[in-house]
Amino acid sequence: MSITIVPEKELRRLVHLDQRALDAVAQGFAALATREVALPPIMRIDVPDRNGEVDVKSAYIHGAERFAIKIAAGFWDNPRNFGIPSSSGQMVVLSALTGRCEAVLLDNGYLTDLRTALAGALAARHLARDRLGTVGQIGAGAQGRYQVQALQLVRRFDRLLVFDQDRDRLQTYVDEMPTQLGVEVRAADSAEQVVRQSDLVTTSTPSREPFVMAEWLRSGLHITAMGADAEHKQELDAQVMGRADLVVCDRKSQCLRLGELHHALAAGVLTPESPVTELGEVVSGQRPGRQNDDQITVCDLTGVGIQDTAISLLALDLAREQGAGVEIAD
Ligand SMILES: NC(=O)c1ccc[n+]([C@@H]2O[C@H](COP(=O)([O-])OP(=O)(O)OC[C@H]3O[C@@H](n4cnc5c(N)ncnc54)[C@H](O)[C@@H]3O)[C@@H](O)[C@H]2O)c1
Repeated sequence: MSITIVPEKELRRLVHLDQRALDAVAQGFAALATREVALPPIMRIDVPDRNGEVDVKSAYIHGAERFAIKIAAGFWDNPRNFGIPSSSGQMVVLSALTGRCEAVLLDNGYLTDLRTALAGALAARHLARDRLGTVGQIGAGAQGRYQVQALQLVRRFDRLLVFDQDRDRLQTYVDEMPTQLGVEVRAADSAEQVVRQSDLVTTSTPSREPFVMAEWLRSGLHITAMGADAEHKQELDAQVMGRADLVVCDRKSQCLRLGELHHALAAGVLTPESPVTELGEVVSGQRPGRQNDDQITVCDLTGVGIQDTAISLLALDLAREQGAGVEIAD
């Protein structure tokens, strides 16, 4: 028996935002709706003396041969104290036949970035209008880049309007992204301008204050909000959920605790019984996505373990196909 170790550099060479990765994550979401899946709640370990935290996520589709457990860390003082990035992490692939470790993918968050962007692309595939003129992006960080690249797997668009509260980051984004995307990229003056002028908007910030207001929404708009993945984060005003014709999320129980749904619930805009569709139900065809060009649709993504298992198993397949990584005896 051996264990495959794949370092970040090789994972970046092997796994990309492409159709195969999109299909893998789509199958994961569909399994959530159609198969029996063990999806434990997120385990979080706080390390307050080092201003750090570690999150553990996993999902096992009953009957599958293997599954992954992701261990993702954020130690926010690392850059200042040690000159290294604050985020790190790895995905451990276990055999579902024996329970033994088959692989360790030392991705340092790369696979998380991909699987997160691919969930956004799936939301767009099922919830956005077919024809998009302007796409809006609020948050010009890592996900601000990955989300729009993944979107190009499922939709064409003519121009991208982007806003970030940090002017330097916004300018860097506007300088870099036209070449990567092959479309015009313009800086907006405000989140309001992005929302009012776009057909699809993705929000990807760690904001603690909502910055998308319900009165800015117009017919046909789709919003994917993926920045809020913890109780204290919020991007959409609670009333946004009240204005939407269709509310979708990745996992209702988790979003009611950690995502935008949590704030809509607290504000009394939603109740636990409100009709909220899960992305897996739409991806698997159990429930409809967008039904006409006029609906306002909103998708709340907090990130679920099934995405981590899906992208890990793909990465391991690719590593084995291409003989990548290092084998060590267990
Ligand atoms: N849902 C998921 O599955 C998932 C997965 C990964 C990351 N996340 C979350 O997504 C968020 C973004 O992650 P990232 O890696 O892109 O971070 P990042 O630090 O690379 O980028 C965040 C950007 O948001 C900007 N910003 C912050 N507050 C803003 C505001 N109020 N208005 C406009 N811009 C603002 C920052 O200036 C920064 O450029 C984080 O909260 C992260 O925890 C969620």
